[in-house]
Amino acid sequence: MDRRDFLKGAAAAAVTVGTSDLASAAEHFSSLDDEETKPLLASAPMLQNFAGTSVGVVFAVNGLASGYVLIGEQPDLRDARKVLCGGCRMADIDERVIQVRITGLKPATKYWYRIGADRIHYGGGYDMKVVGNEEDPRIYSFTTAGKELEGGFCVINDTHVRWNTIRAELDKIEALAPSCVIWNGDASNTEEDLENLVSIYLDHPLERKDYAACTPYLFCPGNHDFRGRANRHLERVWMYRQPEERAPRDWDLGRNFAVRLGDVALVGLDTAEDKLDTNPRFAGLFKSGPYREAQTAWLRDALAQPDIASAPFLVAFCHIPLFDDDPSHNPGDLFPADSDPRYSADFAYWQRTCARMWGPLLHEAGCQLLITAHMHKYRFDPSAPDRCWAQLVGGGHTMQEGDSFPTVIEGKVLGGRLRMTVHNIFSGKVQDVFEFNPRQI
Ligand SMILES: [Fe+2]
Ligand SMILES: [Fe+2]
Repeated sequence: MDRRDFLKGAAAAAVTVGTSDLASAAEHFSSLDDEETKPLLASAPMLQNFAGTSVGVVFAVNGLASGYVLIGEQPDLRDARKVLCGGCRMADIDERVIQVRITGLKPATKYWYRIGADRIHYGGGYDMKVVGNEEDPRIYSFTTAGKELEGGFCVINDTHVRWNTIRAELDKIEALAPSCVIWNGDASNTEEDLENLVSIYLDHPLERKDYAACTPYLFCPGNHDFRGRANRHLERVWMYRQPEERAPRDWDLGRNFAVRLGDVALVGLDTAEDKLDTNPRFAGLFKSGPYREAQTAWLRDALAQPDIASAPFLVAFCHIPLFDDDPSHNPGDLFPADSDPRYSADFAYWQRTCARMWGPLLHEAGCQLLITAHMHKYRFDPSAPDRCWAQLVGGGHTMQEGDSFPTVIEGKVLGGRLRMTVHNIFSGKVQDVFEFNPRQI
């Protein structure tokens, strides 16, 4: 559905007003300026942080609103329940982004849903009114994660707001029809305003407005996704899971994931900034060190979860590589300011601190593959005797001849083996195919 059709559909959807509020609504609408007469729904929904029993539904609005999702297992939604945005305390209101976290779902189950929003007049704490409503005319569907869900996954990375690259990658993903997509970081550059984040993920210039409405996304932030004031609160656009979905110890780890997709366990980590917390350029405003340690405790537990531990294939994801055999490549732990004449650049080519914390855990668990990004240059590092996981590093974002071509990495279990296909998005050809045997469990 293109933007024009989507907006037309949303505008054509019934505008309903409670009878007791008719007078005030009429008064309100008579004073609408151009901004307020835009359709309230400003984007198709994006499915975020997909899991076995929950999913996030996020969409943009034009104007102060409270939103909801109608969701059920019947295609016509006759069994639908209404889930309001916000947590369990109160329904949220927001001028630009609505986030609805749906919990209590069944694993590997197909659901149908529709989004809607109430336009809110806010005159103060005792003066709040619903003055309009819009529902997206389209009913979308998705399937929750789970052991019984036989489907593939795709990985994209380092898109850096290059729309031509993203457009081509989404075309490939549409053709491959995966069960979920992992966006492996550096979706942004340095984003100072919320509006920039909205335009990257939700209300974007792509023709494929609904690219994430039926295909759920998981996100492993890259170093750029921490840069700029807006990115310091990325959760305003890329929602966290609900607190009740994680242990109290892990409340700040709202996007780490450990989900089962058929025979594959997918585990997502966040390598955070590519510069040290002590680098004076960042004024002490990052805490990547303790953040990585917190994820180590989470990872240990995640790998022991029965549904993860029993999966024949274990694939992990993070943005910055955890292995690099070039001794001139900065390992990201050069205290205090990342530079050293022995290394070729003052930023991490790979993350030795994370490698030391997470690498052995992945090795002990028999992880077959780690998929990373960050280098803007595709490569494959085979496993080694002390490291059973191989590493695939996703490509760059350059749609021209050279070695920075973009990739869509596809994973699928075929004939009892995990087959990874690396699609070169510039050439349109398959770059490489790798196959992995089930791990010993
Ligand atoms: Fe990047
Ligand atoms: Fe990066």
